[in-house]
Order: sequence, then structure tokens, then C-alpha cells
Amino acid sequence: MEEQLAARLHVRHAHVCASGTAAVFTALAACGVGAGDEVIVPPFTFVADIECVLWLGAVPVFAEVDTTLCLDPASVAAAITPRTKAVLVVHMCGSMGRIDALEELCRRRGVLLIEDAAQAMGATYRGQPLGTFGRAGVFSFDFVKTMTCGEGGAIATNDAALHEVVQAFTDHGHDHRGADRGADRHPFLGLNFRLSELHAAVGLAQLPKLDRMLEVQRRHKRYLRDGLQDLRRVSFRKVPDAAGDSATFLSFFLPTEAEAREAAGRLASAGVDGCFYWYDNNWHYHRKWQHFQTLASPAALAVQKAGWLPHLSSIHVPRSDALLGRTISMLIKLGWTKTDLEQRRERMRSVLQ
Ligand SMILES: Cc1ncc(COP(=O)(O)O)c(C=O)c1O
Repeated sequence: MEEQLAARLHVRHAHVCASGTAAVFTALAACGVGAGDEVIVPPFTFVADIECVLWLGAVPVFAEVDTTLCLDPASVAAAITPRTKAVLVVHMCGSMGRIDALEELCRRRGVLLIEDAAQAMGATYRGQPLGTFGRAGVFSFDFVKTMTCGEGGAIATNDAALHEVVQAFTDHGHDHRGADRGADRHPFLGLNFRLSELHAAVGLAQLPKLDRMLEVQRRHKRYLRDGLQDLRRVSFRKVPDAAGDSATFLSFFLPTEAEAREAAGRLASAGVDGCFYWYDNNWHYHRKWQHFQTLASPAALAVQKAGWLPHLSSIHVPRSDALLGRTISMLIKLGWTKTDLEQRRERMRSVLQ
């Protein structure tokens, strides 16, 4: 699976592991993100990214997202301090952030770029797979992703030394030098984040289907997007390279928060399922992350003990709030028939007009 994944992503190394969360944790740790380091993160992501930063003893610093629904390079630039170790760009909902600008910024300011492409397997920017621009890229193959192993994840990198650290870290730091596992040495600490052979077998069977799944998603998304194009109240998420969109979601904006919240409710009542209003979502948007705001944890966190974490209770991202308040993202499904699509388009038009 690792060989085929590396070939699919055009990278030198891909390492599979137990989950996307394990992949984020491993990528950060292997890149040297640890106690007291600042990591710039978006307020629109999945809780896993913030969990990993916090468990590593590092400090999440929130920058704004823009109309790509990913980190705004200007806001990231303003958030960089001498303590910034990495920028964690999250390619949300299957499409890309302004990855060229973020890559250039990180290079110029000497900070690591790490990509969370957990939701963007198969997406590309100008032909290059997302997850291969930064020092490391992370993928998830959990049960809601385009390509799934049931549960699973991967870390992609072109850096052989980093790959060595990644593969050892996910197996207790074993150096894997010989055939005798008991004689392995442990150059450093690790954890068990291994993917099982059984899960990998499923992943291996999924990979050859990826292009077909992407093709169907893109066709379905195009049909629905084209069908909403003329609606005065609707505008669409900025996708820097539409040809590379994995098309897992159709994300659009309404003029106001009130209109978006109301439309999300009416879409659900009209039987248009899978329309997410992230602004009120517990998993993906900072407003409902009370457990981070209060640092609720079964065990004391290093950041807490050391007093490194000043204000998670008041994350200040007014531009992201204004944007996400107006955003609805609709899941694109593979199994829709022509009739399903026609019906969905008509119902959406009648709610959103
Ligand atoms: C952006 C993002 N990062 C990381 C993860 C974690 O992946 P997993 O569920 O495989 O642990 C997810 C899962 O939804 C995600 O959406």
C-alpha cells in the first residue's frame, strides 16, 4: 500500500498508520514540533489537529481562513513569531488552500509547512497532489473519506530522513534494522500507531478505484454547481485550481448568517441531506470547542503546567466567523442517480433562490 500510495502521490515516501489523527501527531512530532513551539492552525478544521498540537505540548495559534475556507496567507504572515515552528494548513472539504502562497511564505520566514490533506485525497494543485507541498502531508482513510480502509491514515514526504523518523515513531521508535524485532534498538520514543495488514489490504483495493470515484464526484458537483450558478443569493467557495478539486463537497455562501442558518434548516426539511452549517458544528469550527477553551483533559497538559497557553478561551478570528456564518457545504455522494441529482437541484433551487 505504501509503495502504491507513494506512486499515486508522486512522492518518494508514504507511510501508513492507524488513523489520520495518528498521522497528524506523527508528522508534527517527526518534524520536531514539541513543548512550547507555536503551530499556526485554522479555526475551521477537525478537532484532531488541535488535539495533537496540545498533546505534544505545543501551542496552537489561530489565523484566519479566507474564501478558500483554508488559511489566509496574510493572516498567517501576521501570526508568525520567533516561537513559530510550523504552519498546519488544512485543505478542508476536498479543495485546496492558497498552497503556493503559503509555501512561499513558509520558505521565506523559515517555518515548516505541514499539510493536513485528510479530507483531500486525490486533489491536486496545478497537477501536484495536495499533501506533497509541505515538509510532510497527512491523509485519512477513515469511514467517511473518499478512499477508506475502515480506519487508517498516511504521512507523505520527499525527505528520506523524515520518513525514517516517521516509520520508527509509529512503532515505538523501533529502528527496524534487521529481521529480529526483539533485537531492534530504540533511537527515540515512539508510540504504536501502526496500521494493520488487514486494513492495508482494504486500502490497497481502494486505491485503483480512486480515479473513478473522483470522476463521479466531480461530475455530480459540476451538475449541481451549474444548476445554482444563476441564483442571486448564492456565491461559491474560491477554489484556486478547480481542475484539481476532489469535489467531495460543494461549499457556498449566502449573503448573511441569518440567511445561511435558515437555508441550512430549510434544505434539511426539504430532504436535501448532507448540507453542513459548520458555524454551529461541534467538530469542525472553533465556536463549539469548549473542551479546548477550558482545556478539559483527563491529564494535565504541558502547555497548561508551563503556562504557555494564554487565551484559547478567546480565539479572535472575526473574519473567519463572518465567513463561516454564511457558509453551507453539501456532501457530494457517489451513489446519486440522474433522478436524485435532478430532484436535488430543483429542491436546492427552490430553497436558495
Ligand atoms: C481535516 C482532518 N484532519 C484529521 C482528521 C483525522 O482523521 P481520522 O478520523 O482518520 O483520525 C480528519 C478526520 O475527519 C479531518 O477531517
